[in-house]
Amino acid sequence: MSDNPKPQRYASWTAGKLPLPELREMKRRGEKIVMVTAYDAPSGRLADAAGVDLILVGDSSGMVVHGRESTVAVSLDEILFMTQWVTRGAKRPLVVADMPFGSYEVSNEQAVTNAVRLVKDGGADAVKLERGGTTVARARAIVDAGVPVMGHVGLTPQTATVLGGFKAQGRTADRATLLLEEAAALEAAGCFAVVLEAVPAPVARTVTRVLAVPTIGIGAGAGTDGQVLVWHDMLGMYAGQRPRFVKQYADLASVTQAAVERYAAEVRNGSFPEQQHTYSIPEEELELFEEALAEVRAAR
Ligand code: KIV
Repeated sequence: MSDNPKPQRYASWTAGKLPLPELREMKRRGEKIVMVTAYDAPSGRLADAAGVDLILVGDSSGMVVHGRESTVAVSLDEILFMTQWVTRGAKRPLVVADMPFGSYEVSNEQAVTNAVRLVKDGGADAVKLERGGTTVARARAIVDAGVPVMGHVGLTPQTATVLGGFKAQGRTADRATLLLEEAAALEAAGCFAVVLEAVPAPVARTVTRVLAVPTIGIGAGAGTDGQVLVWHDMLGMYAGQRPRFVKQYADLASVTQAAVERYAAEVRNGSFPEQQHTYSIPEEELELFEEALAEVRAAR
């Protein structure tokens, strides 16, 4: 072996990152894919440390982080900044940036320009688009430009008004068939995975069986290739109405509120800060400071 090995230029760039084709292998092996949303460096770091495979910088941020009523108003810049923060914290999981409403509908050019921006400036590994229909052409254009795309069908919150609200989708034979066709069209357009949101479990299982690429379910039962949950939902940090498909794994809202209440009480009763939270000054410097203060006072 050489004493002076060549720099591993390509290897170091992708070092430790889950290879995208591995997701399809996981589906083939029947290994579940774990995805969670994250919106900043700490959540990205913790999701990585917990061993998730995929992180979604979701436009759900508009509701769970920024307090909006829906995801519609989320901007590309918001997703861009959050993707930068998340990719500083998360190293192994593939980071998928959600393309917000209005950032890909107008034309293929608009979709490619914005997707490339999320990859180049945000550090995303892939992007996600909602719906079938015209989105299929946008997905194909982005894939052709070299950016991996995740599809998303079923309940698509960006167009919830058209769907009549935040409701389960694919509950009639016609709607289930349409959903399957949309998912298949997204796969044919080159999507590496498809999210199925709020879809009856038997329909999601069939779509999962038909597609070669992995399906990631949220409110779609246990038969999908993977699952995704929203960070604030699963950790009990969202004060709004939680969808029935959410399982809450912790109650961080109570833990956080109790901690802030304790802090407020300790500030008010003087028990915080303590000696270990303060800085010292050498005795002689303190004496000099007091002398200087006395001179200032005398001169007044
Ligand atoms: O924005 C988001 O978090 C999502 C998931 C619910 C899939 O799209």
